[in-house]
Amino acid sequence: MENTDMKTIQWFPGHMAKTRRAIAANLKLVDAAAEIIDARTPMSSRNPEIDNLLSSKPRIILLNKCDLADSSATSAWINYFRNKGLAALAVDCKSGKGINKVIPTLKNTVLKELMEKRQKSGMTGAPVRLMIVGIPNVGKSSLINRLAGSKRAKVEDRPGVTRTKQWVKLPDGNELLDMPGVLWPKFEDQSAAVRLAFTGAVSDDILDIETLAMKLLLFLAENYPQSLKERYKIDIEENDTGIILLEKVGKKRGMVISGGEINTERAAITVLDEFRGGKLGKITLEFPSVGEQ
Ligand code: G4P
Repeated sequence: MENTDMKTIQWFPGHMAKTRRAIAANLKLVDAAAEIIDARTPMSSRNPEIDNLLSSKPRIILLNKCDLADSSATSAWINYFRNKGLAALAVDCKSGKGINKVIPTLKNTVLKELMEKRQKSGMTGAPVRLMIVGIPNVGKSSLINRLAGSKRAKVEDRPGVTRTKQWVKLPDGNELLDMPGVLWPKFEDQSAAVRLAFTGAVSDDILDIETLAMKLLLFLAENYPQSLKERYKIDIEENDTGIILLEKVGKKRGMVISGGEINTERAAITVLDEFRGGKLGKITLEFPSVGEQ
């Protein structure tokens, strides 16, 4: 897929080049970067060039929206990243869970050497400067608000950076660049794009809504059958196709149009809305493979 409409962003090659440059320039101003990803899609919600873009900086990975993700999968992902030598933490910017661990974890892990150096030279009071990077909709603005302890203006989802730089003083004295790097997602990978569409991170129109809901239902029937059964009070047969599952949901919800036909479009909207709102339970859409955990 090329130049896919991600929310309102058009990620043209020129925008990507501008974003790369802006991130590189901002990285020079900070001690560390926080890469924020969605705990439900820890691979698909990562920028494809992130390891290159951030190679020069100590980094922490924040698996956000952990309130919506399967806790055991989140633990497996944290182990996965830690095994790769990356500091990783689960956070929930909605409730604030895990936020107070972000700076201490940074200081105790990837910034340990810097902290020790500062201690030796009597500079322990110097603030840690941090910037946030992530694809649209992962929770960058929410994280800034949480860390800052106040509500700030929504960060615009625009490729490149045009606003004036501003440092936000955090309650603990550390400083945050009030301008997260907005990165492009993995559009070259169709299945990653579909998982991002399930969570609403990219616009639904990469697929028609019914196809999207059917794909989600098939994933759930295979990986979280109990959640589906409990939410919609449906039976799941081994050979159920996506359309059969969608019709079962529509039927149970009384979404019938004239002649007894099921309104599968309404059913699809319901399934996607309820999944995104966490009503089907805590669900993760991708898992590290067994050897990687
Ligand atoms: P962005 O800057 O990276 O684009 O993301 P932003 O903070 O705007 O968050 C995108 C959406 O995700 C928002 O919902 C936000 O409330 C929600 N969100 C952020 N962090 C969490 C989290 O840890 N858990 C849950 N459940 N949701 C989270 P929205 O519907 O777009 O807006 P609103 O509900 O805040 O009005």
